[in-house]
Amino acid sequence: MREIVLKIGGSVITDKTKPFTLRKHVLNRIASEIAKALSEENIKLVLVHGGGSFGHFVASRYKDKFTPRAFIEIHEAMERLNKTITSCLLKHGIDAVPINTQLTFILKNKEPYKVFLDPIINALKRNLVPILYGDIVFDATKKFSILSGDTIAPYIASKLNFNNLFYAINVNGVYKRYPPKSDKDLIEVLNQNMLSNILEHSRVKARGIDVTGGMVNKLLEIVKWVKIKKMKIMMFNALKPGYVYRALTYKNIPKKTIVKV
Ligand code: IPE
Repeated sequence: MREIVLKIGGSVITDKTKPFTLRKHVLNRIASEIAKALSEENIKLVLVHGGGSFGHFVASRYKDKFTPRAFIEIHEAMERLNKTITSCLLKHGIDAVPINTQLTFILKNKEPYKVFLDPIINALKRNLVPILYGDIVFDATKKFSILSGDTIAPYIASKLNFNNLFYAINVNGVYKRYPPKSDKDLIEVLNQNMLSNILEHSRVKARGIDVTGGMVNKLLEIVKWVKIKKMKIMMFNALKPGYVYRALTYKNIPKKTIVKV
């Protein structure tokens, strides 16, 4: 059985440089690729999407001072994005069921503290596709904190003992240097040594507004949560047609980064 957590980056499905702007054609294409993969293979799939020009844009207005109003407004933007994505998935015949991040995760000092996985587990048992998203959530010490999809994805993959954790991003993977000169700088396999090196020295920054720190944060969260050696962790460019389908059906993707923990 294929078990896959797929994090779809906010930079893929939205235009992060323009507030509240969806990349409709990309979303539609990705939904059709997921639908095709699910119709061909038996896949236990959990989707997680990011905030892009919805959550990140509203969050950036508050500059890390998250008031009750921030809690409401950031969540409202994320729900709007999630609803659009879910509707698109449904239109393509995918039985996607939104899982409210605020009701799933309570944090303590920005770390998952109380997590209620039962709705996700129940959904999977019934062949539904749970879809979570980065959001602002309750934090036992900080009142409110942003929980990135980049934390949710490796956390869920580990807790559910999944064998695949995939990141659909807007570049080909992790590069040796930033800005990369060409794809010769693409790291095909990121091993443990390289991983700790990058985490110490990297100056990687996401384009546009990003309150959760882009690529470095992805790698940090992978290292923090994934302890399962056999889990395949892969980052690939979801702006390239067919790559989401290829990832979900275990077909080769020419340019990608495999992360070894
Ligand atoms: C961020 O989620 C959610 C909010 C800012 C509310 P992510 O950190 O997963 O979003 P992307 O993928 O970077 O856009």
